Amino acid sequence: MGSKSLEKEGIRLQKILSQAGVASRRKAEEMILEGRVSVNGQVVGSLGTKADPLRDKIKVDGKPLRKPEPKAYLLLNKPRGYLTSMAVEEERPTIAQLLKGVKVRVFPVGRLDYDAEGVLLLTNDGELALTLSHPRYEIPRRYLVKVRGIPSPDRLKEMKRGLRLEDGWASALATMKEVTDQDNSWLEITVREGRNHLVKRLCQRIGHPVQRLKRIQYSFLTAEGLKPGTYRFLTSEEIQRLQELASRKRKLTKA
Ligand code: URA
Repeated sequence: MGSKSLEKEGIRLQKILSQAGVASRRKAEEMILEGRVSVNGQVVGSLGTKADPLRDKIKVDGKPLRKPEPKAYLLLNKPRGYLTSMAVEEERPTIAQLLKGVKVRVFPVGRLDYDAEGVLLLTNDGELALTLSHPRYEIPRRYLVKVRGIPSPDRLKEMKRGLRLEDGWASALATMKEVTDQDNSWLEITVREGRNHLVKRLCQRIGHPVQRLKRIQYSFLTAEGLKPGTYRFLTSEEIQRLQELASRKRKLTKA
């Protein structure tokens, strides 16, 4: 195994095996106790051993374990006219084309419509993605929305109180930003879940169809400094902040 400190700081072997898809954690424990697992050439016959899946040579029944992909977190400023899909399609452009330089496989956390633009988080961290996108955790998404007409304050209050949509009640915080002319206005709208076409359906419901939809913030992340169509990797501080937020949310809802 690596250094002494690695032994202390590593991840439990059964967790590494289960994360690599070898077996459930319980079954992995049995495999360890049966002496089927080795770390750096030494058979591990008891539980409690820790290892570093990126640096240590772990084998099961003599076969090397596949190295896990390093975790990646990035932020794309999605332009209009791109599907939120990592598949390459022939009919319409997808965000995969904008992320060609990214060597690890990542997937979007939630989605933006084809004609929507703005902040889109991508990662291969399944646990974080699940927490951030689960409606139970109410992560705020802030949008700038151009709508047809000029909604009255009463209409915006209705949105705040909640409106019945075909898949249940939904609400949003909406404020008037700018009246461009008699036919259009810009609203700032915050929702706390990621249901399909949610903002469009809410606006439609109050009689002001969406003309343009721009996500300007997802949790604390904004597209500041990112030109449409470009991406950047999150900083370690941002990743830590997201992880802390997700773990706080999970704890709160458990309590
Ligand atoms: N709400 C919508 O209607 N569309 C999006 O892309 C995001 C939120």
